Amino acid sequence: MRINKSLLVILFFVLASLGCKSKSKPATTNSTIEKKWWKEVTVYQIYPRSFKDSDGDGVGDVKGIISKLDYIKSLGIDAVWLNPIYASPQKDNGYDISDYENIHPQFGTMADFDALLKGFKERGIKVMMDMVLNHCSSEHKWFKEASKSRESPYYNYFHWWPAEKGEPPYRWSIFDEKAYGWEFNKATNSYYLHYFADFQPDLNWENPALRQDIYKMMRMWLDKGVDGFRMDALAFISKDTTWPPLPKEYNGNWGLYYASGPRLHDYVQEMNREVLSKYDVATVAEAMGDVERVKKFVDEDRKELNMAYHFEAIDFGYLPGEYKMPDPKGYDFVKWKSIYAKWDSAFIDKGWGTIYLANHDQPRMLTRWGNDAPEFRDYSSKMLTTLILSMRATPYYYFGDEIGMSNIKFDRVEQYNDVELLTNYAQVKAKGGDLKRFLEGMKISSRDNGRTPMQWDTTLNAGFSNAKPWLPANANYTTVNVAVQDKDKSSVLNYFRKMQRLRKENEVLVYGKFNLVDPNNSDVFAYTRELNGKKLLVLLNFSKNIASVKTGIDISKAKVLINNYSAASNNGTLKPYEAIVFEL
Ligand code: GLC
Repeated sequence: MRINKSLLVILFFVLASLGCKSKSKPATTNSTIEKKWWKEVTVYQIYPRSFKDSDGDGVGDVKGIISKLDYIKSLGIDAVWLNPIYASPQKDNGYDISDYENIHPQFGTMADFDALLKGFKERGIKVMMDMVLNHCSSEHKWFKEASKSRESPYYNYFHWWPAEKGEPPYRWSIFDEKAYGWEFNKATNSYYLHYFADFQPDLNWENPALRQDIYKMMRMWLDKGVDGFRMDALAFISKDTTWPPLPKEYNGNWGLYYASGPRLHDYVQEMNREVLSKYDVATVAEAMGDVERVKKFVDEDRKELNMAYHFEAIDFGYLPGEYKMPDPKGYDFVKWKSIYAKWDSAFIDKGWGTIYLANHDQPRMLTRWGNDAPEFRDYSSKMLTTLILSMRATPYYYFGDEIGMSNIKFDRVEQYNDVELLTNYAQVKAKGGDLKRFLEGMKISSRDNGRTPMQWDTTLNAGFSNAKPWLPANANYTTVNVAVQDKDKSSVLNYFRKMQRLRKENEVLVYGKFNLVDPNNSDVFAYTRELNGKKLLVLLNFSKNIASVKTGIDISKAKVLINNYSAASNNGTLKPYEAIVFEL
């Protein structure tokens, strides 16, 4: 038999190029993405101070969470992230840790924690702890010792500038009234560095002894059975210790100058080698900066972390240079959608994304991204839940959003507790700024809005505590609460449960290719998800008006999988805040 040589050559090249393609770029419309449990879970974030108080001191605690385990399970939740519950003076609500290996007495004991972990495990729920590794508390024994003498073995656990060298090179600080990142310490005649408040000294990751202590502590939690970590302010751990001069006006661009120091990824890779790679864990960094910077944490080949979250979408629509002051003109919705599309495509080949619309550093998602007016509260809460649970990324869902909690909107500065708000207020005041305008803006964006107690029922303090809570409950708890919504089939709460089931039952919602549709629509967020021949269309009206959408997709025979009105629109228009997921 005569073989046509040139045909064989062509065939070889065609096959070879197909082979290369599938290697370098997994086709996301089929199931070539590596499946992992942490890609498939919804992470429910619990702010322990505000979840449930069991001992009547007005502060939530571990036993309080234990009493609500069945509720958490009833949400269809399979992973939780607990904000810090370690020993701490609580000046930044636990992000100032004085002992990483113990539980803060107000939250309970280690035995309580073990019982909580057991309770979660019995229900098949994974537990992620918060790890604050950029800084500790000035009450931590490391700092107490370090600040006594330059001879202390702990002196090098921190960054110091000896006073005999003169003024330290300017560094910015986020929670400092003077926005100055160095604080003088008399006993050592040197300044210590703090990117956050002066009670949060930055740890010196250059020092291998510090790093080993940190790894040992992380192993201790993992050996207990914890399933992963949310890593606070991780992008800041490496500093350029040649201390080059930096501009004084950070102009909102903190990430650019201060995050991603020269040895950041060496440290994260070392942490992976020494700790993380030995366990099946979920890890998520509070990352900073653009796609390229964030991707470095999560590209599997680099062996660092699993996930990272970015700030581009959540910080969108604030006035530049005025920390978290909402732009009175609103925000550019078309641009906002494009940010999600950009971050989705960032992780097509490598890594994995996250999606969140709120957390303990943010206001309530309903007030910020939906509409908390009584007539729109339910619709827009459900619409936002649909967004979070239908994207190609691990959803991080903040406690209380499942019942549509909204901002408390304090009028007076004395009502606030948060160090960030109080620092910014003092700065505006010192500059002779407009304090009334500042406080108006903070009704939308300040962190305490997202920290008010969970609204369980109609009893005193929303059923959170029988004592005066550390922050008051939102007065709307008499109608917005778990007990009332649990019984109501059409409630925000039961919509959340339904949406959770939908995500669990439809792999396409987890792994399917994401494609933005009608991208220039200024009211509707529309996209498709596609996997192994299954295709969904998600339509979300972000406006309080009837909106039209041009998808170019025939929906006449499409099946409605979920909808937040009693009947779904199928004529190319959407009712105010309507959300529909179609199966095409
Ligand atoms: C992170 C935390 C925030 C805290 C800060 C300092 O951004 O999420 O709550 O205040 O780091 O640790």
